[in-house]
Order: sequence, then C-alpha cells, then structure tokens
Amino acid sequence: MSSTVNAVVNLDLEGPVISRHVYGHFAEHLGRCIYGGFYVGEDSDIPNEGGIRLDVVEALRALDIPNLRWPGGCFADEYHWRDGIGPKEDRPVMINTHWGGVEENNHFGTHEFMALCELLGTEPYISGNVGSGTVQEMSEWVEYLTRDGDSPAVRERKANGREEPWKVKYWGLGNETWGCGGNMSAEQYALEARRYATYCRNYGDNKLYRIAAGASDFSYGWTETLMKQLSHLGCQRVERPLYQAVSVHYYTVAGPWDNKGSATEFTTDEYYTTLYKASRTDELLTGHGNVMDLYDPKKEIGIVLDEWGTWWDVEPGTNPGFLYQQNTMRDALVASVHFDIFHKHADRLVMANIAQTVNVLQAMILTDPDSGALVLTPTYHVFRMNKGHQDAASLQVHVVGDKPVKDVDGAELPTVSVSASRKDGRLLVSLSNLDADEAADVSIDLRGGAVTGLASEILTAAAVNAHNSPDAPEAVAPRAHDGVRIEGGKLLVHLPAHSFVTVAGDVA
Ligand code: AHR
Repeated sequence: MSSTVNAVVNLDLEGPVISRHVYGHFAEHLGRCIYGGFYVGEDSDIPNEGGIRLDVVEALRALDIPNLRWPGGCFADEYHWRDGIGPKEDRPVMINTHWGGVEENNHFGTHEFMALCELLGTEPYISGNVGSGTVQEMSEWVEYLTRDGDSPAVRERKANGREEPWKVKYWGLGNETWGCGGNMSAEQYALEARRYATYCRNYGDNKLYRIAAGASDFSYGWTETLMKQLSHLGCQRVERPLYQAVSVHYYTVAGPWDNKGSATEFTTDEYYTTLYKASRTDELLTGHGNVMDLYDPKKEIGIVLDEWGTWWDVEPGTNPGFLYQQNTMRDALVASVHFDIFHKHADRLVMANIAQTVNVLQAMILTDPDSGALVLTPTYHVFRMNKGHQDAASLQVHVVGDKPVKDVDGAELPTVSVSASRKDGRLLVSLSNLDADEAADVSIDLRGGAVTGLASEILTAAAVNAHNSPDAPEAVAPRAHDGVRIEGGKLLVHLPAHSFVTVAGDVA
C-alpha cells in the first residue's frame, strides 16, 4: 500500500534565500571529536597535515561545509584561548570537567583550528568564554585573530608565526549561559552580552557577526529578554547593533534524559516519537521568530540554531562522558526533516550547526579508536545530497488535499516532508518518506517553468535501524533513483518506506 501526496511548486516565485550557513557544523573538545577525530597529531601514522586528519578533511570537503563552530559547547566556557597558542610543549594541561574529566593538553588550539578551517574551505565560528572568562580575554582573542598592524595581541600572533590577520566573522558570546555557561538568569546574561558585544571590536574590514547565547528549546522568555535588551538600551529607544543574532539549542531526544534510548535498537513507536520530536523544530523556529518579530519586524536579527541533532545513550562500553553514538537511517530522516524546516524559515534562520561533526552525537563521520578506520554515517549522506540548497532561493511547496499522518501519542506527524529551492537555473527538490513500512507517491505540479534533465538519488535501507560500520561501511549509502519522471508538467516521485530522495533538474 502507498499513499499519494499532491503539491504545487511555483518555479517562478522565489522566496527568501536559504543561507548556506544552515548547513553549518560544530567541533567541540568532547570525547573523540577533536583528538582522534579531526586531529591526530603530527606523529600519527594516519596521513595528516600539521596533525589534522586528511581523510576527515577530504570527506568533509565533499559537503561544502559553510562554517565550523569551535571550541564548544560547554567546553567553550572553561576554555582560555591563550592556553592553546605557542609551542605545544609549553601549553598547559587543563581538565575537561564537562566531558569525562579528561586531561586536555591544548595541542589543538587557535592556530590549529584556523588551519583546519583553511583545509576545509570553511568559515570559522568561535564560541567565546563568558562563563569563566573575562571581557578582556575575549576582546583580545578578537584582536589576536583579526587585527592588522602593531598592538600587543597582534605582536603575540606574529611571534607565533602568523603574520597576516585571519578573517573571523562569527563570534558566539557564550554558550548555554542558562546552564553550563554560567547558570545565569536571562536578565543577568543579557547585561553580560551587552558588555561582551561592546568590546568585541571590528578591526579593518573584519566585521563581526555577534551571536548572543540563546534559549534552550521552547524557552521563549529568554529570547524576549535578549530582544528587549537589544532595542531598549538606557533610557532611549534606540537600536544599537550590539549583537546580530540570538541562538537557540534544540536536540531531538526521544526519551527522558536519564534514558534517551539506544541509537540502534528501538521500537517502531520510538522511531515515530523521534521523528515527531524532530518535526517540532518547525514550532520552535516559529515560536522564537514570533517573539523576535515583536521587537524586530524587519527580521534584521537572525536566529542561529547552533546545536541540533539526535542525542542517544552512549554506545555500550564507551565512556559516558564522550557522547559517542551510532547513526542510523532514522538519524538521516531526522536530518532531512530538519532541513525542510530550515528551508521554510529562511527569512529568519541564518545559521544552524549540527552537533557534532565527528564521533559525538549526530556525527557525519565516525572513526575507529583502534584501527583509525573512517565511516561515513547516513546523516553525512543527507548533507551531501542536500548541498545544492545552500544559498539557493527557497520555493514554497503547497500541499493540496490530505497528507498522510501518523498519530504519535495524540499528536500528528505528517509522514511526507518536501522542500524545494532554485539556484543558477537548477531546481532541487528534497523529499522524505517517514513511514517505516509503506511507500508514498508524490505528485508536484510544477508551475511557472519547465524542468528537464532530471537526476535523482535515494538514501534508504532494509531497516530503519540500518547503519554503517568499518565492516559494512555502505550499509546505508545513496544510489541513483529511477522512481522519478515528469508527466504533463508534473513531477512524479516514488518514495519507498523510510527513504530520502533528492531530485534535481534544469529549469527553463
Ligand atoms: O553537544 C553537547 C553539549 O550539549 C554542548 O556542549 C552543550 O552546549 C549542550 O548542552
């Protein structure tokens, strides 16, 4: 049995541009994300450049990742950047208290991170320390990285071998300041954010995009407090561009925090609960956006969803503080649903960062700690298949008539999700069928243009818990899809159960 969905897309009615930065990433000093993941050190047998794994770089370059957030997460609020510069043998050791209490030797620091960004061809997004740092410390980090000329921090940088300033646009003013980033109230943090933002300076043509640390989940009051502070400074109603965006974090957690469930062993009910939780990202962005509209109707302040993704119990036998988890076809569909929602919110959502790129939570890449083998996850493939949406104009997908839905504890989960965009005369449509067992057929009436030269890919597997491992690295891998055709101006797409499909074509 299969259900049918009818929709209309007007190819000539372009909506807001989908910022490429919603395909952003996140590298935290957590578990084996940095050490063993991105960085193995120069003496490793694994091919590397300056200690950075070249196989990881090569795999990520295929995703065109637009930005990389670093060094945390919770780690950022106990990170003191000067510990991570200069000769490695002189760098102090610190304790990574949030993540397993392990010793951090600071061998991966500012210069290594900037080298990684250069190898990846991506923009750095630095998350500054508000929780245990100082305004001066963050201000000097900006100066160290981005100022030209001759000043104390610039001299320090030059002494460490880097003559030219780097370009670093994106700066986070703390992280989860309601929790691990200082346990502050919204009012307290909003005042801190004003101070930190003031002293993070623009040097030369390096114009900062400052991101205030935002809410958890649906805590709209936090966003409102940040927005109020922005527009009502002192006793005057004068807008001052202190920060350019506010962040929010939302993880897809299917169970309670103390029993989040296994990444690979789950029931069909748990599968649907997961996808329902993922689909609530739409409500999340709408809710925070509505609050922001009250203070910023022109949508000049962006939303940055700088942590998202699935969060399962750690893999059995691994360090609980390392948050290492497998990644299945279910995770791939969580990602594809998020992207459809991101595309829909292109008018306000300027950036999103999946947590985290390598070896932690919903990773793109898993590396074997013993053999070093690298595995691409199902989520990786969704990022690759969807990359044509980066900086493309969104196209609204109007569903006509009934949509197939599943009941999830009294709530409705639409099981077919579609988004579309257009860039440089090329149409890209992404379609997900979340139904675990039944296929779906989608018919899209393409108006305002003709589409030729269809190319389609599909990601699916025998079971929703299928995943890749060093022994079976391609258990879930994309292949060409032949269930696609154009008939009478309609794009007809067959979606097998639990599948993700992309269709591209030339628009005339
Ligand atoms: O991604 C893991 C952690 O989740 C991050 O360090 C923190 O910001 C969030 O609570």
